[in-house]
Amino acid sequence: MQHELSSLRETVVSEVESVSNLTDLEAIRVATLGKKGRLTLLMKSLSNLSDDERRSAGTILNKIKNEIIALIDVRKTQFELEVINLKLAEESIDVTLPSRIRSKGFIHPISQVIEEMITIFGEMNFEIASGPEIEEDFYNFTALNIPPEHPARQMHDTFYLTKREGSEQKLLRTHTSPVQIRTMIGGCPPFRIIAPGRTYRHDYDMTHTPMFHQIEGLVIDDGTHFGHLKGCLADFVRLFFEVDDLNVRFRPSYFPFTEPSAEMDIGCSRKSGQLRLGGDEDWMEILGCGMVHPRVLQASGVDSHRFQGFAFGVGVERAAMLKYGIPDLRSFFDSDIRWLKHYGFGSLDIPSFLSGVTR
Ligand code: DAH
Repeated sequence: MQHELSSLRETVVSEVESVSNLTDLEAIRVATLGKKGRLTLLMKSLSNLSDDERRSAGTILNKIKNEIIALIDVRKTQFELEVINLKLAEESIDVTLPSRIRSKGFIHPISQVIEEMITIFGEMNFEIASGPEIEEDFYNFTALNIPPEHPARQMHDTFYLTKREGSEQKLLRTHTSPVQIRTMIGGCPPFRIIAPGRTYRHDYDMTHTPMFHQIEGLVIDDGTHFGHLKGCLADFVRLFFEVDDLNVRFRPSYFPFTEPSAEMDIGCSRKSGQLRLGGDEDWMEILGCGMVHPRVLQASGVDSHRFQGFAFGVGVERAAMLKYGIPDLRSFFDSDIRWLKHYGFGSLDIPSFLSGVTR
């Protein structure tokens, strides 16, 4: 047995040394260590030996087996290295080849404009608040001083959900104003929040889509007055439209949740069909605002004798159309990729509004 073992060892060693490629090396491995390999058969024949013989032959056999495994391994690595080196020597990469152009997607103008507005109000220390799009009648209307018989309810073209037994009437929020109520009920003054989000009305024509976006604003504190409202909103539109001397004016208006209420216009000119922002030749309505009605504060559990403040609501689509010259409102929601390529924003573009907010 001893003799057989050492002669097998010598044979395998010389085979492995003289082998010239990976395939032949693998063949040697199988012929030696495989199921019916030479060494495996010897291993099996150990059972025919006496205990003593088996023990000493077994030790040698294991030693030789390990030796052969290591030997084959080293040789295998050598061959693999040779293959790699050959590849490196023969192949080359042409780094001057232009890369394939991949479409990287575009940011929708609505997302871009919301982002811009958030950044501007963020600079003014506003926090972002949010509320549900499926809203309760109380938050959307009643708490905003729009009781059931109020004519403003008809003007809102509300989508109502089927009422369930024993639960509140649910609807799709018609504006972002309910977030004012939720914010005040859920916290204590002072408040300084904006709430961007989707809103819904049963309406569809050139200037209306059933889903659209608003940004709501609410500021409540001890001595907040109309002067703060004017300063804040004038700063906002100048930063947003990137026109430093943009003229603004406040026209008396009516909203049930504010008193007094106003509509804010920005100055513009419309010479030969061309709209330009700035000047005071003409005016364009941009947002609704006012001092929060004491009844709204009371409905939200805020002491209306101590606290007061202002609120505003901006239509995002309209602001986007004005700033980026997008002519048709409905195109925002057509999901036309060519439109998005034209009016959208690259994710790596430097946002233009950054220039506007640096002081
Ligand atoms: N919620 C109003 C609307 O959808 C917009 C608005 C006007 C919001 C005046 C306000 C505000 O907070 O003070 O038409």
